[in-house]
Amino acid sequence: MHGHKMLCSKVVTKSDLKDKKVLVRVDFNVPLDDGIVRDSSRIKNVIPTIEFLKNARARIILISHLGKTACFNQAQSLRNIVDEVAQQCKSNVVFIDDCLDADASFIIDNAPAQDIILMENLRFYPEEEKCDVEFAKRLANLADFYINEAFSVSHRKHASVFAIPQFLPHALGLSFMKEIRIINDFFSDALSPKMCIIGGTKLSTKINLLKNLAKKVDKLALGGGIANVFQSFEKNSSFGGGDSNIYAEEVSKIIKNSQKYNCQLIMPIDFSMTADFSIADIGPRSIELFQQHIRESKTVLWNGPVGLFEKAPFDQGTRSLALEISQLSRDGKLISIIGGGDTAFAMNKFKVSQDLSYVSTAGGAFLAYLEGSELPGIAAMHDPCVLQQ
Ligand code: 3PG
Repeated sequence: MHGHKMLCSKVVTKSDLKDKKVLVRVDFNVPLDDGIVRDSSRIKNVIPTIEFLKNARARIILISHLGKTACFNQAQSLRNIVDEVAQQCKSNVVFIDDCLDADASFIIDNAPAQDIILMENLRFYPEEEKCDVEFAKRLANLADFYINEAFSVSHRKHASVFAIPQFLPHALGLSFMKEIRIINDFFSDALSPKMCIIGGTKLSTKINLLKNLAKKVDKLALGGGIANVFQSFEKNSSFGGGDSNIYAEEVSKIIKNSQKYNCQLIMPIDFSMTADFSIADIGPRSIELFQQHIRESKTVLWNGPVGLFEKAPFDQGTRSLALEISQLSRDGKLISIIGGGDTAFAMNKFKVSQDLSYVSTAGGAFLAYLEGSELPGIAAMHDPCVLQQ
Protein backbone atom coordinates (compact mmCIF):
# COMPACT_ATOMS: atom_id res chain seq x y z
CA MET A 1 0.00 0.00 0.00
CA HIS A 2 1.27 3.45 -0.83
CA GLY A 3 2.05 5.63 2.17
CA HIS A 4 -0.37 8.46 1.47
CA LYS A 5 -3.38 9.00 3.63
CA MET A 6 -6.68 9.38 1.82
CA LEU A 7 -8.28 12.59 2.96
CA CYS A 8 -11.77 13.96 3.01
CA SER A 9 -14.23 13.82 5.78
CA LYS A 10 -17.05 16.29 5.10
CA VAL A 11 -19.20 16.19 2.04
CA VAL A 12 -19.98 19.34 0.06
CA THR A 13 -22.99 19.15 -2.19
CA LYS A 14 -23.86 21.39 -5.10
CA SER A 15 -26.51 23.12 -3.03
CA ASP A 16 -23.90 23.96 -0.37
CA LEU A 17 -22.02 25.95 -3.00
CA LYS A 18 -24.99 27.72 -4.53
CA ASP A 19 -24.14 31.41 -5.05
CA LYS A 20 -20.83 30.90 -3.26
CA LYS A 21 -17.60 32.33 -4.65
CA VAL A 22 -15.18 29.48 -5.25
CA LEU A 23 -11.47 30.08 -5.77
CA VAL A 24 -10.08 27.24 -7.86
CA ARG A 25 -6.30 26.76 -8.06
CA VAL A 26 -5.77 25.27 -11.52
CA ASP A 27 -2.59 24.51 -13.44
CA PHE A 28 -2.88 26.42 -16.69
CA ASN A 29 0.87 26.24 -17.18
CA VAL A 30 0.30 25.28 -20.81
CA PRO A 31 2.78 25.39 -23.69
CA LEU A 32 2.34 28.55 -25.77
CA ASP A 33 3.56 29.26 -29.31
CA ASP A 34 3.30 32.96 -30.05
CA GLY A 35 0.50 33.27 -27.54
CA ILE A 36 -1.39 30.26 -28.95
CA VAL A 37 -2.04 27.27 -26.70
CA ARG A 38 -0.23 24.27 -28.22
CA ASP A 39 -1.65 21.64 -25.87
CA SER A 40 -4.84 22.25 -23.92
CA SER A 41 -4.81 19.01 -21.86
CA ARG A 42 -4.35 20.93 -18.63
CA ILE A 43 -7.37 23.11 -19.39
CA LYS A 44 -9.48 20.08 -20.32
CA ASN A 45 -8.40 18.46 -17.07
CA VAL A 46 -10.37 20.94 -14.95
CA ILE A 47 -13.64 20.64 -16.88
CA PRO A 48 -15.31 18.13 -14.49
CA THR A 49 -14.80 20.51 -11.55
CA ILE A 50 -15.92 23.50 -13.63
CA GLU A 51 -19.06 21.60 -14.65
CA PHE A 52 -19.69 20.66 -11.02
CA LEU A 53 -19.43 24.31 -9.97
CA LYS A 54 -21.56 25.53 -12.86
CA ASN A 55 -24.30 23.08 -11.92
CA ALA A 56 -23.98 24.26 -8.33
CA ARG A 57 -24.47 27.84 -9.60
CA ALA A 58 -21.27 28.86 -7.89
CA ARG A 59 -19.17 31.83 -8.98
CA ILE A 60 -15.96 30.38 -10.41
CA ILE A 61 -12.67 32.25 -9.87
CA LEU A 62 -9.65 30.55 -11.45
CA ILE A 63 -6.08 31.20 -10.29
CA SER A 64 -2.96 29.74 -11.89
CA HIS A 65 0.68 30.25 -12.70
CA LEU A 66 2.24 30.15 -16.17
CA GLY A 67 5.95 29.48 -16.61
CA LYS A 68 8.73 30.46 -14.27
CA THR A 69 8.89 34.20 -13.68
CA ALA A 70 8.80 36.73 -10.89
CA CYS A 71 7.53 39.81 -12.68
CA PHE A 72 4.97 40.90 -15.21
CA ASN A 73 5.63 40.11 -18.85
CA GLN A 74 3.24 39.87 -21.76
CA ALA A 75 4.46 36.51 -23.04
CA GLN A 76 3.55 34.79 -19.76
CA SER A 77 0.32 36.62 -19.14
CA LEU A 78 -2.68 34.38 -18.66
CA ARG A 79 -4.54 36.83 -20.88
CA ASN A 80 -3.01 34.82 -23.73
CA ILE A 81 -5.16 31.84 -22.87
CA VAL A 82 -8.50 33.55 -22.19
CA ASP A 83 -10.03 32.45 -25.52
CA GLU A 84 -8.89 28.87 -25.11
CA VAL A 85 -10.27 28.70 -21.56
CA ALA A 86 -13.55 30.20 -22.76
CA GLN A 87 -13.78 27.68 -25.58
CA GLN A 88 -12.88 24.63 -23.49
CA CYS A 89 -15.04 25.62 -20.51
CA LYS A 90 -17.89 26.85 -22.75
CA SER A 91 -18.26 30.10 -20.81
CA ASN A 92 -17.43 33.72 -21.21
CA VAL A 93 -14.23 34.56 -19.32
CA VAL A 94 -13.67 37.80 -17.41
CA PHE A 95 -9.96 38.47 -16.97
CA ILE A 96 -8.62 40.34 -13.93
CA ASP A 97 -5.18 41.63 -14.84
CA ASP A 98 -3.98 42.30 -11.30
CA CYS A 99 -4.40 39.72 -8.56
CA LEU A 100 -3.99 42.49 -5.97
CA ASP A 101 -6.41 44.90 -7.66
CA ALA A 102 -8.39 46.69 -4.95
CA ASP A 103 -11.40 46.41 -7.25
CA ALA A 104 -11.09 42.66 -7.82
CA SER A 105 -13.95 41.93 -5.43
CA PHE A 106 -16.14 44.50 -7.15
CA ILE A 107 -15.34 43.07 -10.60
CA ILE A 108 -16.12 39.54 -9.40
CA ASP A 109 -19.40 40.57 -7.80
CA ASN A 110 -20.52 42.50 -10.86
CA ALA A 111 -19.58 40.06 -13.61
CA PRO A 112 -22.52 38.15 -15.15
CA ALA A 113 -23.28 35.17 -12.90
CA GLN A 114 -22.47 32.49 -15.48
CA ASP A 115 -19.10 34.00 -16.50
CA ILE A 116 -15.85 32.48 -15.29
CA ILE A 117 -13.29 34.79 -13.70
CA LEU A 118 -9.62 34.20 -14.55
CA MET A 119 -6.95 36.08 -12.64
CA GLU A 120 -3.49 37.03 -13.86
CA ASN A 121 -0.43 34.79 -13.50
CA LEU A 122 0.22 34.29 -9.77
CA ARG A 123 3.98 34.15 -10.34
CA PHE A 124 4.01 37.79 -11.42
CA TYR A 125 3.96 38.32 -7.64
CA PRO A 126 7.08 37.16 -5.77
CA GLU A 127 4.79 36.57 -2.77
CA GLU A 128 3.40 33.49 -4.49
CA GLU A 129 6.62 31.46 -4.44
CA LYS A 130 7.54 32.83 -1.00
CA CYS A 131 4.28 31.36 0.26
CA ASP A 132 3.43 34.79 1.65
CA VAL A 133 0.54 34.61 4.08
CA GLU A 134 -0.73 38.16 3.46
CA PHE A 135 -0.86 37.49 -0.28
CA ALA A 136 -2.76 34.27 0.38
CA LYS A 137 -5.18 36.14 2.64
CA ARG A 138 -5.86 38.78 -0.03
CA LEU A 139 -6.79 36.06 -2.49
CA ALA A 140 -8.77 34.08 0.07
CA ASN A 141 -10.79 37.21 0.88
CA LEU A 142 -12.20 37.15 -2.64
CA ALA A 143 -14.00 33.87 -2.06
CA ASP A 144 -16.02 31.62 0.26
CA PHE A 145 -14.46 28.29 -0.66
CA TYR A 146 -11.18 26.99 -2.10
CA ILE A 147 -10.55 24.04 -4.39
CA ASN A 148 -7.13 22.75 -5.36
CA GLU A 149 -7.56 21.32 -8.85
CA ALA A 150 -3.85 21.50 -9.65
CA PHE A 151 -2.28 18.16 -8.75
CA SER A 152 0.60 18.99 -11.08
CA VAL A 153 1.72 21.94 -8.95
CA SER A 154 0.91 20.46 -5.55
CA HIS A 155 4.58 19.65 -4.90
CA ARG A 156 5.24 23.41 -4.63
CA LYS A 157 4.90 25.07 -1.25
CA HIS A 158 3.48 28.25 -2.77
CA ALA A 159 0.87 30.66 -1.42
CA SER A 160 -1.91 29.53 -3.74
CA VAL A 161 -1.21 25.86 -3.04
CA PHE A 162 -0.26 25.79 0.61
CA ALA A 163 -1.37 28.99 2.35
CA ILE A 164 -4.83 29.82 0.97
CA PRO A 165 -6.50 26.70 2.42
CA GLN A 166 -5.64 28.00 5.90
CA PHE A 167 -8.18 30.75 5.36
CA LEU A 168 -11.06 29.04 3.58
CA PRO A 169 -13.04 25.81 3.79
CA HIS A 170 -11.45 23.65 1.14
CA ALA A 171 -11.51 20.55 -1.04
CA LEU A 172 -9.45 18.79 -3.65
CA GLY A 173 -10.84 18.99 -7.17
CA LEU A 174 -12.40 16.03 -8.96
CA SER A 175 -9.43 15.47 -11.28
CA PHE A 176 -6.96 15.85 -8.42
CA MET A 177 -8.83 13.18 -6.45
CA LYS A 178 -8.95 10.91 -9.46
CA GLU A 179 -5.21 11.26 -10.04
CA ILE A 180 -4.22 10.31 -6.50
CA ARG A 181 -6.75 7.48 -6.47
CA ILE A 182 -5.21 6.04 -9.63
CA ILE A 183 -1.67 6.24 -8.26
CA ASN A 184 -2.73 4.80 -4.89
CA ASP A 185 -4.50 1.94 -6.67
CA PHE A 186 -1.36 1.22 -8.65
CA PHE A 187 0.37 0.37 -5.40
CA SER A 188 -2.37 -2.04 -4.29
CA ASP A 189 -1.69 -5.77 -4.61
CA ALA A 190 -4.79 -6.30 -6.71
CA LEU A 191 -3.03 -4.85 -9.75
CA SER A 192 0.02 -7.19 -9.68
CA PRO A 193 2.11 -8.10 -11.54
CA LYS A 194 3.10 -4.46 -11.78
CA MET A 195 5.75 -3.08 -14.07
CA CYS A 196 7.31 0.38 -14.10
CA ILE A 197 9.19 1.75 -17.06
CA ILE A 198 11.41 4.64 -16.07
CA GLY A 199 13.31 6.55 -18.72
CA GLY A 200 14.39 10.13 -19.28
CA THR A 201 17.78 11.70 -19.25
CA LYS A 202 18.57 12.72 -15.70
CA LEU A 203 19.12 10.08 -13.05
CA SER A 204 19.50 12.78 -10.38
CA THR A 205 15.76 13.60 -10.52
CA LYS A 206 14.72 9.96 -10.22
CA ILE A 207 16.92 8.40 -7.55
CA ASN A 208 14.32 8.57 -4.77
CA LEU A 209 11.67 7.37 -7.15
CA LEU A 210 13.70 4.30 -8.15
CA LYS A 211 14.49 3.51 -4.53
CA ASN A 212 10.81 3.53 -3.68
CA LEU A 213 9.66 1.65 -6.77
CA ALA A 214 12.24 -1.11 -6.30
CA LYS A 215 10.46 -1.95 -3.03
CA LYS A 216 6.99 -1.89 -4.47
CA VAL A 217 6.76 -3.20 -8.02
CA ASP A 218 7.41 -6.59 -9.60
CA LYS A 219 9.37 -5.37 -12.62
CA LEU A 220 11.38 -2.21 -13.08
CA ALA A 221 12.55 -1.54 -16.63
CA LEU A 222 15.02 1.28 -17.27
CA GLY A 223 15.64 3.19 -20.47
CA GLY A 224 17.10 6.49 -21.64
CA GLY A 225 20.11 8.07 -19.97
CA ILE A 226 19.16 6.45 -16.66
CA ALA A 227 19.76 2.94 -17.99
CA ASN A 228 23.17 3.99 -19.30
CA VAL A 229 24.29 5.06 -15.85
CA PHE A 230 23.17 1.75 -14.36
CA GLN A 231 24.95 -0.21 -17.02
CA SER A 232 28.25 1.54 -16.67
CA PHE A 233 27.97 0.89 -12.93
CA GLU A 234 27.24 -2.80 -13.38
CA LYS A 235 30.17 -3.22 -15.76
CA ASN A 236 32.72 -1.51 -13.56
CA SER A 237 31.13 -1.73 -10.10
CA SER A 238 31.99 1.97 -10.01
CA PHE A 239 32.14 4.87 -12.39
CA GLY A 240 35.02 6.31 -14.26
CA GLY A 241 35.17 9.35 -12.04
CA GLY A 242 33.85 12.89 -12.08
CA ASP A 243 30.27 13.71 -11.18
CA SER A 244 28.88 10.31 -12.00
CA ASN A 245 30.67 8.85 -8.98
CA ILE A 246 28.09 10.60 -6.82
CA TYR A 247 25.57 8.09 -8.08
CA ALA A 248 27.57 4.94 -7.42
CA GLU A 249 26.23 4.48 -3.91
CA GLU A 250 22.67 5.33 -4.94
CA VAL A 251 22.69 2.95 -7.87
CA SER A 252 24.06 0.15 -5.74
CA LYS A 253 21.28 0.80 -3.16
CA ILE A 254 18.62 0.61 -5.85
CA ILE A 255 20.07 -2.66 -7.17
CA LYS A 256 20.21 -4.09 -3.62
CA ASN A 257 16.64 -2.96 -2.91
CA SER A 258 15.40 -4.64 -6.05
CA GLN A 259 17.07 -7.92 -5.02
CA LYS A 260 15.80 -7.70 -1.47
CA TYR A 261 12.21 -6.92 -2.48
CA ASN A 262 12.07 -9.34 -5.36
CA CYS A 263 11.77 -6.71 -8.04
CA GLN A 264 13.10 -7.77 -11.42
CA LEU A 265 15.38 -5.07 -12.82
CA ILE A 266 15.15 -5.03 -16.62
CA MET A 267 17.93 -3.32 -18.57
CA PRO A 268 18.21 -2.73 -22.32
CA ILE A 269 20.35 -5.35 -24.06
CA ASP A 270 21.10 -3.40 -27.23
CA PHE A 271 21.05 0.22 -28.36
CA SER A 272 20.58 2.54 -31.29
CA MET A 273 23.54 4.91 -31.65
CA THR A 274 24.08 8.32 -33.21
CA ALA A 275 26.90 8.98 -35.71
CA ASP A 276 29.22 9.90 -32.84
CA PHE A 277 28.40 6.61 -31.06
CA SER A 278 26.38 8.08 -28.25
CA ILE A 279 23.36 6.02 -27.18
CA ALA A 280 20.13 7.51 -28.53
CA ASP A 281 17.54 4.77 -28.07
CA ILE A 282 17.03 1.19 -26.96
CA GLY A 283 17.63 -1.34 -29.76
CA PRO A 284 15.28 -3.90 -31.39
CA ARG A 285 16.13 -6.78 -29.03
CA SER A 286 15.52 -4.55 -26.02
CA ILE A 287 12.18 -3.46 -27.49
CA GLU A 288 11.19 -7.14 -27.81
CA LEU A 289 12.37 -7.83 -24.23
CA PHE A 290 10.46 -4.88 -22.77
CA GLN A 291 7.34 -5.80 -24.74
CA GLN A 292 7.52 -9.36 -23.42
CA HIS A 293 7.54 -8.05 -19.84
CA ILE A 294 4.70 -5.68 -20.62
CA ARG A 295 2.64 -8.62 -21.88
CA GLU A 296 3.31 -10.49 -18.62
CA SER A 297 2.09 -7.57 -16.49
CA LYS A 298 -1.36 -6.56 -15.35
CA THR A 299 -0.44 -2.90 -14.81
CA VAL A 300 2.24 -0.70 -16.34
CA LEU A 301 3.25 2.71 -15.08
CA TRP A 302 5.55 4.63 -17.40
CA ASN A 303 7.53 7.81 -16.81
CA GLY A 304 10.24 9.06 -19.14
CA PRO A 305 10.86 8.20 -22.80
CA VAL A 306 13.41 5.42 -23.46
CA GLY A 307 15.13 7.31 -26.30
CA LEU A 308 15.26 10.59 -28.19
CA PHE A 309 11.67 10.19 -29.34
CA GLU A 310 11.50 13.62 -31.03
CA LYS A 311 14.05 12.54 -33.59
CA ALA A 312 13.53 9.65 -36.02
CA PRO A 313 14.84 6.95 -36.10
CA PHE A 314 15.48 7.28 -32.35
CA ASP A 315 11.74 7.35 -31.67
CA GLN A 316 11.46 3.59 -32.34
CA GLY A 317 11.88 2.42 -28.74
CA THR A 318 9.38 4.81 -27.21
CA ARG A 319 6.96 4.36 -30.12
CA SER A 320 7.06 0.54 -30.05
CA LEU A 321 6.45 0.40 -26.30
CA ALA A 322 3.64 2.95 -26.63
CA LEU A 323 1.96 0.88 -29.35
CA GLU A 324 2.25 -2.36 -27.36
CA ILE A 325 0.87 -0.74 -24.20
CA SER A 326 -1.98 1.00 -25.98
CA GLN A 327 -3.00 -2.13 -27.90
CA LEU A 328 -3.12 -4.23 -24.72
CA SER A 329 -4.99 -1.45 -22.90
CA ARG A 330 -7.52 -1.17 -25.71
CA ASP A 331 -8.08 -4.93 -25.54
CA GLY A 332 -8.71 -4.67 -21.80
CA LYS A 333 -5.63 -6.76 -20.96
CA LEU A 334 -3.56 -4.07 -19.28
CA ILE A 335 -4.02 -1.06 -17.03
CA SER A 336 -1.67 1.70 -18.19
CA ILE A 337 -0.70 4.84 -16.31
CA ILE A 338 1.49 7.37 -18.04
CA GLY A 339 2.96 10.41 -16.31
CA GLY A 340 5.37 13.25 -16.93
CA GLY A 341 5.34 16.05 -19.49
CA ASP A 342 7.64 14.41 -22.06
CA THR A 343 6.01 11.01 -21.83
CA ALA A 344 2.50 12.47 -22.15
CA PHE A 345 3.71 14.52 -25.12
CA ALA A 346 5.18 11.39 -26.75
CA MET A 347 1.88 9.54 -26.32
CA ASN A 348 0.06 12.39 -28.08
CA LYS A 349 2.65 12.39 -30.83
CA PHE A 350 2.16 8.65 -31.40
CA LYS A 351 -1.62 9.15 -31.17
CA VAL A 352 -2.15 6.50 -28.52
CA SER A 353 -3.30 8.65 -25.55
CA GLN A 354 -6.98 7.82 -26.01
CA ASP A 355 -6.30 4.07 -25.63
CA LEU A 356 -4.32 4.37 -22.40
CA SER A 357 -6.04 3.96 -19.04
CA TYR A 358 -4.69 7.21 -17.61
CA VAL A 359 -2.34 9.94 -18.81
CA SER A 360 -1.24 12.39 -16.14
CA THR A 361 -0.31 15.93 -17.16
CA ALA A 362 1.84 16.24 -14.04
CA GLY A 363 5.63 16.09 -14.11
CA GLY A 364 7.41 16.89 -10.84
CA ALA A 365 4.30 16.31 -8.73
CA PHE A 366 3.71 12.90 -10.31
CA LEU A 367 7.28 11.87 -9.47
CA ALA A 368 7.11 13.30 -5.95
CA TYR A 369 3.89 11.45 -5.22
CA LEU A 370 5.28 8.19 -6.59
CA GLU A 371 8.38 8.65 -4.45
CA GLY A 372 6.11 8.70 -1.41
CA SER A 373 6.88 12.36 -0.58
CA GLU A 374 4.25 14.41 1.15
CA LEU A 375 2.92 17.02 -1.27
CA PRO A 376 2.35 20.51 0.22
CA GLY A 377 -0.93 20.74 -1.72
CA ILE A 378 -2.21 17.69 0.14
CA ALA A 379 -0.57 18.50 3.47
CA ALA A 380 -2.40 21.86 3.37
CA MET A 381 -5.77 20.11 3.44
CA HIS A 382 -6.24 20.21 7.20
CA ASP A 383 -9.96 19.72 7.24
CA PRO A 384 -10.88 18.87 3.68
CA CYS A 385 -14.32 18.42 2.20
CA VAL A 386 -15.16 16.05 -0.60
CA LEU A 387 -17.16 17.32 -3.55
CA GLN A 388 -20.23 15.16 -3.94
CA GLN A 389 -21.16 14.77 -7.58
C1 3PG B 1 4.52 21.72 -14.21
O1 3PG B 1 4.56 22.16 -15.38
O2 3PG B 1 5.03 20.63 -13.88
C2 3PG B 1 3.74 22.49 -13.19
O3 3PG B 1 2.98 23.49 -13.78
C3 3PG B 1 4.67 23.05 -12.16
O4 3PG B 1 5.49 23.99 -12.74
P1 3PG B 1 6.87 24.40 -12.05
O5 3PG B 1 7.80 23.25 -12.20
O6 3PG B 1 7.30 25.64 -12.78
O7 3PG B 1 6.57 24.68 -10.60
